[in-house]
Amino acid sequence: MPDTIYTRPEQYDLEHEGDDLDVRFYRALLERYRPRRVLELGCGSGRVTLPMAETAVRTGADIVGIDVNEQMLGQARAKAEALDPRARGRLTLEQGDITSWSSSTPFDFVIVPCSTLCHVLSLDDQLATWRRAWHNLTPGGRFVVDVTMPDLAAYADSMQHPPRALVQMDIDAEAPDEGSRLIRYRTVRYLPHLQRARIHFLYDAFASSEAADRFVSDFESHVYFPRELELLFRVTGFEVEKTWGDYRFGPMRATSRQMIMAGRKAETT
Ligand SMILES: C[S@@+](CC[C@H](N)C(=O)[O-])C[C@H]1O[C@@H](n2cnc3c(N)ncnc32)[C@H](O)[C@@H]1O
Repeated sequence: MPDTIYTRPEQYDLEHEGDDLDVRFYRALLERYRPRRVLELGCGSGRVTLPMAETAVRTGADIVGIDVNEQMLGQARAKAEALDPRARGRLTLEQGDITSWSSSTPFDFVIVPCSTLCHVLSLDDQLATWRRAWHNLTPGGRFVVDVTMPDLAAYADSMQHPPRALVQMDIDAEAPDEGSRLIRYRTVRYLPHLQRARIHFLYDAFASSEAADRFVSDFESHVYFPRELELLFRVTGFEVEKTWGDYRFGPMRATSRQMIMAGRKAETT
């Protein structure tokens, strides 16, 4: 992966400062489904993984997080040091690619939060990811995926002739104690022939009373549509059990910002 925000995990965490709705959602799913073994694909800096390990102390699950990026994993490991030892004991972090990673001990709950799946660009890799999840699950196990609903208005704008890319300042985050601040600007171009968004992020990171550190982070992001997600589940052997449109378990509707889908592997295969 090229130089992205994932090579600066502290800034990634600042970028997500206060994003706790999805964290609460996944903790609630642990309470709801009571899985014994949980796998998070693309766990990154442990933003969701570590709070899940805290919940797992009560619900009795083991949590495994895998990510391809060693810097993000390093940040997750460092933060895990501050966990209660009982939560830390429930947590395993490993390097792995979500399209190919497999475990000899299966899981009964596999999740991919925070649009990580948008990094999986080719249809072959997407199918491989769903198939790997299926193989890593016990019969009856669940696979929950969570991606952003396509923002067709923004994409339509980006397809004007001549093309124009509006610059949005979409994040201005401050760390609670350290006085650091991160401002993010973004432009998006939609490439309809690839069903892909070309996203340029420009960041200004301020440490207290120092000049800004400016860096860019560019992504090619696959744009999923609801029917496509359902198809990926169906062709890889899952039954789609639930869909939600937000992290409060609301239904998917025209105004939904998220597409969250839970697939289930049959009890007998
Ligand atoms: C948007 S971040 C999400 C991180 C974390 N789940 C969270 O909610 O904060 C996406 C993560 O997916 C990882 N990633 C991207 N492609 C991957 C792949 N093929 N295999 C494993 N991890 C991948 C990145 O390194 C990054 O840490």
